[in-house]
Amino acid sequence: MGRPSGLVTTQEVQAARGMLDAARRVVVVTGAGMSAESGVPTFRGEDGLWKSHRPEELATPGAFQHDPQLVWEWYRWRRGLVAACEPNPGHRALSAFRRRHPETTVVTQNVDGLHQEADRLEEVGPSVSPVLELHGRLFGDRCQGCHRRTEAVRTPDPDLEAALPRCDECGDLLRPDVVWFGEGLPRSVLETAVDAARTADICLVVGTSARVQPAASLPLATTGAGGTIIEVNPSPTPLSRRARVTLRAPAGELLPVLLGP
Ligand code: APR
Repeated sequence: MGRPSGLVTTQEVQAARGMLDAARRVVVVTGAGMSAESGVPTFRGEDGLWKSHRPEELATPGAFQHDPQLVWEWYRWRRGLVAACEPNPGHRALSAFRRRHPETTVVTQNVDGLHQEADRLEEVGPSVSPVLELHGRLFGDRCQGCHRRTEAVRTPDPDLEAALPRCDECGDLLRPDVVWFGEGLPRSVLETAVDAARTADICLVVGTSARVQPAASLPLATTGAGGTIIEVNPSPTPLSRRARVTLRAPAGELLPVLLGP
């Protein structure tokens, strides 16, 4: 077993590994920090997206109504960036862990699809529950009229990019199939995530600032039912004081050590 760098001691990792080995069920809640080492920008870090963009102008229904062209330009920029990113060793280690522990549920706030790509690369079978995407998926389109969902093209034709995309069925505007500020989360996804959190012995929280609800409360559903939180994050968060173990290291470096066989 390698030794993670940073402020993590081998004893802390060993303690966390022991807790995970003994757990009957694990729920993993991930945020943007999970994909940081893949090159996907976080939102609130030093070089986070919300440092250079105003979420109110780009990630709200009002923003889309006011200037759909600007919103589509930003999401197309994000799609181009994420399409070039690959799962990092943290994603891969988590998928390999799920293959060995199929009762593990991953609940992500990320829309980049990197957990699913890692599951594919690690040949995680159909017996493992699908990744729960609380905030939607970047490479999905949804019609704002008839709500029809379609896959977004990963390498779009630049000439087609000028026009605003419209629904083949009803002709209304398409929007990215993500959850914007002020919108509700997909109900069935959230209910499944809350149930997984409530019935888990351990909630492994990776790479989230724990600022955005309801995702930030999921780990508390685990502790509320007698379970334990393990946090993986180089920086402290509002959840840190509720965690039994906080591992101050990057996910891509630490998860292969924490979740390895
Ligand atoms: N490994 C683990 N954690 C990391 C890493 C890393 N390599 N790099 C950064 N982090 C941590 C940061 O310390 C921070 O706590 O990841 C967290 C990222 O926090 P945010 O940028 O706030 O992202 P997130 O918590 O996912 O935001 C939640 O807010 O803007 C909305 O919808 C958006 O889903 C997003 C939600």
